[in-house]
Amino acid sequence: MTEEKKNRYKFETLCVHAGHDVLETKTISPPIYQSVAYPFESAEYAAKLFRYEIEGHMYGRMDNPTNKMFEERLAAVELTDKALATSSGMAAEFVACLRLLEKGDNFVTAGKIYGGSNRLFSQTFPKMGFEAIFVYEPDNIDIWVESINEKTRFLYVETPSNPNLFIGDIASLAKLAHENEIPLIVDNTVASPALQQPVVLGADIIVHSATKFLSGNATCISGVVAGSADYIDKIREIEYRNIGPSLSPFNSWLLLLGMETLSLRMAKHCENAQAIAEFLENHSKVVSVNYPGLKSHPQYELAKKQMKGFSALLSFVTKGELTDTKNVIDAFNLIIHTGHLGTTKTLATHPAFTTHQQLSREERLAIDIPDTMIRLSVGIEDVNDLIEDIDRALVKI
Ligand SMILES: Cc1ncc(COP(=O)(O)O)c(C=O)c1O
Repeated sequence: MTEEKKNRYKFETLCVHAGHDVLETKTISPPIYQSVAYPFESAEYAAKLFRYEIEGHMYGRMDNPTNKMFEERLAAVELTDKALATSSGMAAEFVACLRLLEKGDNFVTAGKIYGGSNRLFSQTFPKMGFEAIFVYEPDNIDIWVESINEKTRFLYVETPSNPNLFIGDIASLAKLAHENEIPLIVDNTVASPALQQPVVLGADIIVHSATKFLSGNATCISGVVAGSADYIDKIREIEYRNIGPSLSPFNSWLLLLGMETLSLRMAKHCENAQAIAEFLENHSKVVSVNYPGLKSHPQYELAKKQMKGFSALLSFVTKGELTDTKNVIDAFNLIIHTGHLGTTKTLATHPAFTTHQQLSREERLAIDIPDTMIRLSVGIEDVNDLIEDIDRALVKI
């Protein structure tokens, strides 16, 4: 799609069309280029290509035509110059950060983030000489300010956060980052670009676990980094090429199909999650509910300002003991107990014992993840069937 067309069309249209020129491929559905290499038209062409003097397809580890379609579509809807498809969300985070860090550098991140990101930052990065400075009260901008020093290379926030639904103030963090001449990275997995476009609020780099809402049907582990042309080109040329976290073209094809229905799905996810959050908030067996669409959420006003909807993710704390929480999870009939989120089906997770198990109990409590918390990723089923399932399960307390 040309720049002129990208500027002309609205979000939903870009989700369906961007990146795929139907006349060029002569197919209505995007083709899967299941090839690891591409013919070079001449020795001179190949030499220029490998010197990065011209654009073209080099080798499957660096680029692929189906991946390129997905990358263009994602960049169009995240309003960035370019994007880079990766083999997982963790791979996206890894290369996004690695590009900006040298040994001895640090970055400042919200403490309320996905458990895997926490482990990458606190377990793997120190081995490479990178320090993550965690902000455990990430709604307090003064702590971010105090945490930055001359070795800080970027700020990092996941908003809404998994599983505690903290809302990071993207505009304030972007302003702070830019005052310090560093970029802001936003993990936009839980909102998806249908509900939040961090670039509009000043963010510089976006990362996604595309495994979640972008694909939407729990069919492929995948990730993506989006940002300026220079930044993305450099990652492709150096980190991506040297490490090899490339995405299979089949998975890009699944993502292209998934993105076509992103807006429709997100609208239904939001509607169902809101109804379930309100139901849980009034339930006698529930201590508290975290959902940014509830007025009781401490950052409800901020969420309303920076998001077009509150997404599918919510968590709640059950009354009683840990065994009661486990009994509730085991009693779900329709809702599937698993370690995933962001798909058409409603999923339940016990964060303290699965996604965030690798953190110590103290670390979990510091980021508001008690043992009795259940996370729900609300799907697009009939909401009455879901409420019935939850109500039946809560009788176990
Ligand atoms: C917010 C968030 N970011 C990143 C990831 C990592 O993504 P992946 O599982 O695709 O590597 C996850 C996984 O659950 C996540 O929830």
